[in-house]
Amino acid sequence: MIRIAPSILSANMCRLEEDVKRALSAGADMVHVDVMDGHFVPNITIGIPVVRSLRECCDAELDVHLMIRDAERYAPSFVEAGADIVTVHVEAAPHLNRVLTSIRESGGQCGVVLNPATPISSVSEALEISDMVLLMSVNPGFGGQRFIGRSLERISKLKMMIEERGLDIPIEIDGGIDPGNAAEVVEAGADVLVAGSSVFTANGGDVENNIAALRSAAMLGSQRRGR
Ligand code: DX5
Ligand code: ZN
Repeated sequence: MIRIAPSILSANMCRLEEDVKRALSAGADMVHVDVMDGHFVPNITIGIPVVRSLRECCDAELDVHLMIRDAERYAPSFVEAGADIVTVHVEAAPHLNRVLTSIRESGGQCGVVLNPATPISSVSEALEISDMVLLMSVNPGFGGQRFIGRSLERISKLKMMIEERGLDIPIEIDGGIDPGNAAEVVEAGADVLVAGSSVFTANGGDVENNIAALRSAAMLGSQRRGR
């Protein structure tokens, strides 16, 4: 089953609860929270208090994507605030094993994120201690960017590495995902689709139809993957 994870970066922060609940009622499977610190990426977004508030207002799985320089210092606090899974960039975590382990020890699931130009092999030594791998299909920092086509090959390559090891780790793809490319990314091996602008702002913010369109593209992709 392919999961759809709307990114609240494109939601209206004045009515965040309403937007999140609307996406969940429309069939979203989890909520993707983009945390940016203005250092690792050139943008500043939201942090621990917002995760805590989201945890209080919804039961859905909270998928927290840390785009921060000091991930090791803050990751456990996101789990304590209510994150179900916390993903950290390999480019921002020199002590990757330590930070992933600390997330699990705090009671959360952990994942590794790779930027578009970071070799797939850089996740190799951390695969066995990861619950998910997130591949960026844009350079992180902003919503609404265009999908980088090369990401398709990267998904296939990572999928192969996971299968060769006999592991069962979902691949999440993030950046520029819309109904026009969702089938292809799923066919290549993606299991979780992050989508911000194509859920909350496309087509005048018609969240229900936007999620339905992503869902049918994802189903087409998984049928193609299966044969
Ligand atoms: C980008 C973020 C993404 C972003 C996706 O740095 O990690 O999650 O919000 O937005 P869209 O789907 O609009 O590319
Ligand atoms: Zn993200």
